Amino acid sequence: MTSSAPGKAILLGEHAVVYGRPAIAVPVHALQASATLKPADRGEPGQLWIEAPDIGLSSQVELHSPAAATPQSQAENLAPAGSSPVSRAAGREQIDRAPESQAAGLATAVRLGLEHFGGTPAGALRLEVHSDLPVAAGMGSSAAVTVAVLRAVAEHLGQQLAPEAASRLAYEVERHYHGQPSGIDNTVVALGAPIYYVRERPPSTIAVGAPFTLVLADSGRPASTRELVAGVRQRWEADPASYERLFDEIGAAVEAGRTAIEGGRLAELGQLMTHNQLLLEQIGVSTPLLETLITAGLESGAWGAKLSGAGGGGLVLAVADAGLIGAVRTALLEAGAVRAFVTEVGS
Ligand code: MEV
Repeated sequence: MTSSAPGKAILLGEHAVVYGRPAIAVPVHALQASATLKPADRGEPGQLWIEAPDIGLSSQVELHSPAAATPQSQAENLAPAGSSPVSRAAGREQIDRAPESQAAGLATAVRLGLEHFGGTPAGALRLEVHSDLPVAAGMGSSAAVTVAVLRAVAEHLGQQLAPEAASRLAYEVERHYHGQPSGIDNTVVALGAPIYYVRERPPSTIAVGAPFTLVLADSGRPASTRELVAGVRQRWEADPASYERLFDEIGAAVEAGRTAIEGGRLAELGQLMTHNQLLLEQIGVSTPLLETLITAGLESGAWGAKLSGAGGGGLVLAVADAGLIGAVRTALLEAGAVRAFVTEVGS
């Protein structure tokens, strides 16, 4: 049987969440990563055959090799299936540079899963991975692939993997890919529900007062979360007082956003998202292309729009009345998005 996990989008609070402020993220069920783990028909115990055709990866690794994953590996490249021509091209280039890192990340997820259950496979294993999620696009492809692989390990062993355990194990793999991530991506992907998240605290799920629809527009410019987070850190170190103030303002928008979601006040949620975008511009993670897309979304009637995830490229998120979603999606594509998806939250 195939195991899967959804993508994610951060509604409010990215970057500030790394500095202890709250953030809100939602699962994107319309886009999934999937994985299957089976006994291999060749090889010795401890060997893992990996087939990830979406990224052109076909390799064999030792499961218990100490170099299971390197800190420099790029998780965003794990799952580029169906990604935009631009991000696919860039993703391919990175994959070609570091196929060992891709394989090592997947092997680490399998190894952590086996260790969690104390399972020792009798023979070699074969892992097959697929994903709909564009790479390096702010949609959580690395977390989704990792959680899908952890669930495939559980399925293979006939075990249940609790969402909290999936999140905790996936965080270990995320660290290899992204440095010191806040943990929001693995948490929302593993829980599969809208969450209010503060670093190093248990997440709370948000009761959505009225279901709402999001447009996710891929700018087609892949961006490295690791590099963008490092850039914010450098600027914060140079001017901590200003950055702390901006993070506090983002945190206040998140708190207001939570009550707006719970109360079904979607136009207010949209305004808070646009306000959050202005704060993200001030911390230096937006780009002219992202701002062109955001303006197009707002002019076509969205309640609000912002970049989502690390910025520097990647994803633009717009929230709009269901009746206007088609027009907003078209406007984003006409303004330069290479792909745009629609997903429902809370329905
Ligand atoms: C990445 O999806 C979100 C960031 O806030 C980084 C993190 O939380 O680890 C930019």
